[in-house]
Amino acid sequence: MNNDYQDFIKKVYKKTGIDLSCYKEAQMKRRLTSLYEKKGFKNFQQFFDAMEMDQTVLNEFLDRMTINVSEFYRNGKRWEVLKNKIIPQLLAKSKRLKVWSAACSTGEEPYTIAMVLSHFMPLSQIKILATDIDENVIKRAKIGIYPERSLAEVPEDIKRKFFTKEGLFYKVNDEVKRTVTFKKHNLLADPFESNFDLIVCRNVLIYFTEDAKEILYKKFSAALKPGGILFVGSTEQIFNPHLYGLKSEDTFFYRKI
Ligand SMILES: C[S@@+](CC[C@H](N)C(=O)[O-])C[C@H]1O[C@@H](n2cnc3c(N)ncnc32)[C@H](O)[C@@H]1O
Repeated sequence: MNNDYQDFIKKVYKKTGIDLSCYKEAQMKRRLTSLYEKKGFKNFQQFFDAMEMDQTVLNEFLDRMTINVSEFYRNGKRWEVLKNKIIPQLLAKSKRLKVWSAACSTGEEPYTIAMVLSHFMPLSQIKILATDIDENVIKRAKIGIYPERSLAEVPEDIKRKFFTKEGLFYKVNDEVKRTVTFKKHNLLADPFESNFDLIVCRNVLIYFTEDAKEILYKKFSAALKPGGILFVGSTEQIFNPHLYGLKSEDTFFYRKI
C-alpha cells in the first residue's frame, strides 16, 4: 500500500513536475484517497492510469491537491500591522516596492496588498507579482469576481472604493486589477526572482514537509533585499529564523538581515 503511494509520487512527478514528496504525507494521502475512492478506484495505480487517459481526472487531482481557499484581508489584524508598521518602514528605504504574492490562489491576497499599498501611493505606481502552481485559480484571479463571504474582513471604505457589486457578487475594480501580474509558478521547482522588498507567502507552507519548508525559507531569504520582509500565514511561525538570515520583526513578519 505504501509502495502504491510512492510509485504514484514518482509518476505524478514525471507527468506534471509536481513533487508530492514535499507535501506532508499523511494529509496528502488522505485527501487523494478520499477522491479516488469517491471515483470508484481501488488504489493509486488505478487512479494514475485514469489520469493518463482522461484530462478531467487529472484536473480533479490537481484541484484536490492544491487547497485553494482564500479571502481578502485574511487574518485582518496582520494586515493592520502590514499597513501601520511594515509598509512605512519599507517606504522609508525605497519609494517603489517590489512585491510578490507567492501561492496567491484566486487573487484575494495580491488584490488585498494593492488595496493596502493604495494608502501610500496611487494605484498606477503599484506593481505586484502574483504566482500559483494552479492555472485554474490564476484564471479566476484574473477575472476578479468574488462571493460576499470572501469580503467578510474587508473594511467598509475599501469595499466601497475598490469593488463593484454585480448581483450577489463583488467585482474588483480594473485599476486594482491592473496592479497585479499573474504567473504560473511552482515554489518547489521554479527559480525565484530577486530583490523583493516584500514577499507574502501565506497558508501554503503548512502543507509542506519540514525539509521542503527549510529549502523555501532559504530561497525566500535569498529573494529578498537586505531589510526586506517575508509575511507568512497565521499558523506558519518560523522557528529559528536566524538560520535563514531572517529575524522576527512582528508576529508572522520576518526581516532579512
Ligand atoms: C490555501 S491557498 C492560500 C492562498 C493565499 N495565499 C491565502 O493565504 O489566502 C494555497 C495555495 O497554494 C498553492 N500551491 C500549492 N502548492 C504550490 C506550489 N508548490 N507552488 C506554488 N503554489 C502552490 C495552491 O494552488 C493554492 O492556491
